[in-house]
Amino acid sequence: MLSKKMILVISLAFLFVGGLSAQDFEYIGAKKCKMCHNKPTTGEQYKIWSEGPHANAMESLKTDEAKAIAKEMGIADPSTDQKCTKCHSTYARIDQSVNISLAEDEGVSCETCHGPGSKYKSKSIMMSREKSIENGLIVPDEKLCKECHNEESPTFKGFNFAEASKKIAHPNPEAK
Ligand code: HEC
Ligand code: HEC
Ligand code: HEC
Ligand code: HEC
Repeated sequence: MLSKKMILVISLAFLFVGGLSAQDFEYIGAKKCKMCHNKPTTGEQYKIWSEGPHANAMESLKTDEAKAIAKEMGIADPSTDQKCTKCHSTYARIDQSVNISLAEDEGVSCETCHGPGSKYKSKSIMMSREKSIENGLIVPDEKLCKECHNEESPTFKGFNFAEASKKIAHPNPEAK
């Protein structure tokens, strides 16, 4: 027999799970963000990202340097092995049951840093930071970067958040 206390604990657990959880937000892929985030007047974030290190991170796993690192670690193909792709590709990091249209070759995509976009992607929600956060938007911080920029990276040479942020910056000149 379940005690009253147990029943209370179980129903509270269900209530908690029943609220909005990360699982309610699905990955839509960078092309969906491009529609609204590629105008020069508002900072062309898509273009900046696509020409930067993160969008091209899967390419680095196909180089001779990558193959040499992998060989040393007993990894046959770094571009398909989870031991490498887990930091070089959003696709490889996520639960595929919450992937709607994120492509395999996107590298480290927008949604790694900003959260899965299925619910915040509409203009009315995006106009408000508060509503966007309620709907899955993440405002990235140093801790998030260090999920990948750490000693587990075979080429790690240290990480300076302020300098690194400048290198990948994609501000909106019109934002208040
Ligand atoms: C229908 C248009 C639209 C789509 C699609 C869209 N956004 Fe936005 N987004 C906006 C608008 C409008 C703003 C508010 C103005 C601004 O900051 O550029 C905004 C703001 C943002 C901000 C700034 C939030 C803040 O307050 O700091 C981020 C980050 C962002 N979007 C990321 C994304 C990502 C990632 C995607 C794709 C998963 C995406 N957006 C898809 C229209 C859109
Ligand atoms: C999902 C893993 C991941 C996250 C999270 C991540 N990065 Fe990266 N980052 C990479 C990978 C992988 C590369 C190497 C890309 C390449 O050259 O192929 C990279 C490269 C870079 C580079 C260029 C190389 C260098 O060190 O100068 C900068 C700058 C950078 N990241 C900044 C950031 C910042 C700032 C954040 C947090 C806002 C961040 N990254 C979050 C995986 C990540
Ligand atoms: C813990 C996350 C992580 C893992 C695991 C990881 N990488 Fe990376 N990789 C990064 C980050 C972050 C960068 C950019 C900064 C740096 O070198 O640490 C990078 C950069 C690289 C670069 C480019 C260096 C350059 O010339 O700019 C190569 C090549 C590379 N990684 C290969 C690999 C291979 C091969 C594996 C698997 C054996 C692997 N990485 C596993 C995070 C990771
Ligand atoms: C490696 C992590 C990373 C990736 C990948 C990334 N961003 Fe960002 N983004 C950031 C950081 C860090 C900021 C600054 C957050 C802040 O204001 O504190 C930012 C800010 C923004 C802003 C707000 C600009 C402003 O000044 O209001 C928008 C919009 C945005 N990103 C859209 C995108 C889109 C669209 C993509 C993909 C095409 C993308 N980002 C990819 C880390 C990332």
